[in-house]
Amino acid sequence: RRILYCSSEAYPLIKTGGLGDVAGSLPRALQQLGHDMRLLLPAYRDLLQNLSQRPRRLIELTIDHYPVTLWQTTLPGSRVVTWLVDCPPLFDRPGNPYLDDDGEPWPDNAQRFALFDQVAARLAGDQTGLDWQPDIVHGNDWQCGLIPVYLESQTDRPASVFSLHNLAYQGLFDRPTFDELGLLESLWHFTRLEYHGRFSFLKGGLIYADRITTVSPTYAREIQTPVFGHGMEDVLAHRADRLSGILNGIDTRTWNPGTDRLIVKRYNRRHLLDKQANKRALQAHFGLPQTGESMLIGMVTRLVEQKGIDLVLDSLPWLFNLPVQLVILGSGDKRYEQALQQAVKQYPRQLAVTIGYDEQLAHRIEAGADLFLMPSRFEPCGLNQMYSQRYGTLPLVTPVGGLADTVIDASGEALQRGEGSGFVMREISVPALQESLQRAVRGYQTPLSWRQLQQFAMQQDFSWKHSASAYAALYEQALQDSRMV
Ligand code: ADP
Ligand code: GLC
Repeated sequence: RRILYCSSEAYPLIKTGGLGDVAGSLPRALQQLGHDMRLLLPAYRDLLQNLSQRPRRLIELTIDHYPVTLWQTTLPGSRVVTWLVDCPPLFDRPGNPYLDDDGEPWPDNAQRFALFDQVAARLAGDQTGLDWQPDIVHGNDWQCGLIPVYLESQTDRPASVFSLHNLAYQGLFDRPTFDELGLLESLWHFTRLEYHGRFSFLKGGLIYADRITTVSPTYAREIQTPVFGHGMEDVLAHRADRLSGILNGIDTRTWNPGTDRLIVKRYNRRHLLDKQANKRALQAHFGLPQTGESMLIGMVTRLVEQKGIDLVLDSLPWLFNLPVQLVILGSGDKRYEQALQQAVKQYPRQLAVTIGYDEQLAHRIEAGADLFLMPSRFEPCGLNQMYSQRYGTLPLVTPVGGLADTVIDASGEALQRGEGSGFVMREISVPALQESLQRAVRGYQTPLSWRQLQQFAMQQDFSWKHSASAYAALYEQALQDSRMV
């Protein structure tokens, strides 16, 4: 099949979180299954600077008076043909794809991603003179939410698939913006794009796509309930027959402790002793005492409410009575950044924090930590708990979304069989976090069974193999659905 895979980020060209990892690896996995892939990305300034080869000019378009050039390149490290939507007034600016220097959304985000979505729809309809028309257009998150809306008005359109990576980001804008985008008046209705007096890109995807997916089976169920639905639960429940959860895979080349060039010493499950060198190096990097007795806990995360940072902050005084050290790499909400920096002053021998975004340090924390902390309040999939299992760094997680689907709790029975891969909290709360941390510390003090858990975790298969086939099957269903309407 010919598939146009659209995303607002893709590793290694541009990444702010897990979507970047997924869009950087799923297209390649689908290509290996024999599909004819095109990856479509906005040509942000930072992305263009990351290209290793000069892109080729494909076509020029004018959309809503904006000049657009479509460039062709390949995604570095793969052979996936990548098309870049270049519109300098909208994408040629420094920094984050979504936020300005103050961490506020770019004021013209609606225009930026509406234009991107229109380009996707035009390419899909082959109104551009390109000799390539997709069978499937696959969009991700709110930034791609209008693609199925624009496709709706085309005759002989391809099938559309819309993937939800995070329901908390809905692309909500006001009525004047709706008018400015020139969207059809009939779309301003609560059964379509309108949402409590505003309109939502995300809702467009949820209503108009032939198939909706999200990134784990548990999250697919959770989002049909008020607690996790972020106000979209009714829309989702209404389309439950078109909604499914396909667990994310991981890029097993980028995240492999046996070949990882970003870490201090490479290791595998037969040479776990070499992991110790990474721990010592990490302690040294952060200026923490280089002891083996302390369990070293790592976190790499966006510092936002989703990730349960408040639970961690509330637990610190209790936690540091235990023989543990905690290192955190992250950036995001200023209040969390400041609270963490404040806490470092109080516990300098046990806590270290780097505020920022750093690929190499992320790898080094995965390799050097003993335990990886992810107490998320919700987690559509989560990738770090899978990375950390591969690195023999046991994850400690909440029982939600993809975390519940990928971590096997090392509880009494599982532990006896040597079959746990991490620690799953019984609920989302400070006492539950402390209880699990206590269990982890006890486990860590029993080196033999700890090693068994590490080896069990390292053997889990999180590659794209299964999930890429699941997407391929879903594309066939989407094609059938699109022909029925
Ligand atoms: P989310 O997409 O919600 O942020 P995921 O667990 O799916 O969560 O993916 C997060 C990805 O972003 C991982 O690859 C993680 O290593 C990376 N990441 C997050 N914060 C940072 C950071 N400060 N520095 C480097 N990598 C980070
Ligand atoms: C989102 C989610 C995360 C998921 C990632 C990739 O950012 O927060 O749980 O792993 O997308 O699908």
